[in-house]
Amino acid sequence: MRIGILTGGGDCPGLNPVIRAVVRKAMNDGFEVIGIKNGWKGLIENDTTALNLDSISGILPKGGTILGTSRTNPYKKEGGLENVKANFKALGLYALIAVGGEDTLGVATKLAKEGLNVVGVPKTIDNDLSATDYTFGFDTALNIATECIDRLHTTAESHHRIMVAEVMGRHAGWIALEAGIAGGADVVLIPEFPIDIEEVCDLIKKRHQRGKTFSIVVVSEGARFKEATMVLQEQKLDEFGHVRLGGIGEILAKEIEKRTGYETRVSVLGHIQRGGSPSAFDRVLGTRFGVKAIELVKEKKFGQMVSLSGNKIISVPLEKATGTLKTVDPEYYEIARVFFG
Ligand code: F6P
Repeated sequence: MRIGILTGGGDCPGLNPVIRAVVRKAMNDGFEVIGIKNGWKGLIENDTTALNLDSISGILPKGGTILGTSRTNPYKKEGGLENVKANFKALGLYALIAVGGEDTLGVATKLAKEGLNVVGVPKTIDNDLSATDYTFGFDTALNIATECIDRLHTTAESHHRIMVAEVMGRHAGWIALEAGIAGGADVVLIPEFPIDIEEVCDLIKKRHQRGKTFSIVVVSEGARFKEATMVLQEQKLDEFGHVRLGGIGEILAKEIEKRTGYETRVSVLGHIQRGGSPSAFDRVLGTRFGVKAIELVKEKKFGQMVSLSGNKIISVPLEKATGTLKTVDPEYYEIARVFFG
């Protein structure tokens, strides 16, 4: 029997460990695996690649995805859904493993409801999927962001500057919050709590009054100001209707400099956070998810997604993962606030 696997949405450290684990476990259990290239685009266009022991050899420590990825939404393409269904059949797929975030798994949820044998594997550096404690990719991104904040400290301290670090995370503040805590940031600003620019500047001024001539501000790309007048220009939408975020750090840095008089610089970490080799945690989590995905196929648990609950890998209905975004709660944000200023 043949199983297909695709990776959709933003690339993410840990995807290759999943692919490797799926292929190894499937082969052990007597399945054949075929790779669908570039997410849902590959299934619409019947663009595939054979997956075997040779093709997965050496991919465990590699970032990105050997299958390629895209943000293609078959429900937004003319004839997309029909092609997906036709190619599923033409490829002789018994089941499909869809590895992705909210958008890719949203499509997987709908396809499962249409009767296709689909199993989901959650991935995203944003860690914003409900129904799993962690997604792989987050740990790597967090470690990179933390290292960057450590490096920014050097210049902040030597030049007596305010350094603003803008990190990714979309509409959830997990990367900013945890990298801010781990990197000892003086202010952390996340989408869940609108930015009070007066408060931010007061905190920085108070630091200076107690002799600290530098500050580190971590801001999540999705954070927004309380003041209705301070808005970002609307940006481009992708096929899933998401705006391309970024740019808040620049506005924030200008405003801080204007209001405090202290030299303020911004560093946008961007795709650096998403690139490179997965951390050991993400390699292990990706591997465990991959193995479990094949177990779900064997048990005919379609319409389900693998998930981390505590230290156990379990399965949950796909809709549970995509229904609501997992955002930072006030108690957790309070931990970062202890160190503000
Ligand atoms: O969802 C992962 C993510 O890296 C977000 O943090 C970010 O907003 C987005 O993807 C960027 O996507 P792209 O690489 O398509 O610009």
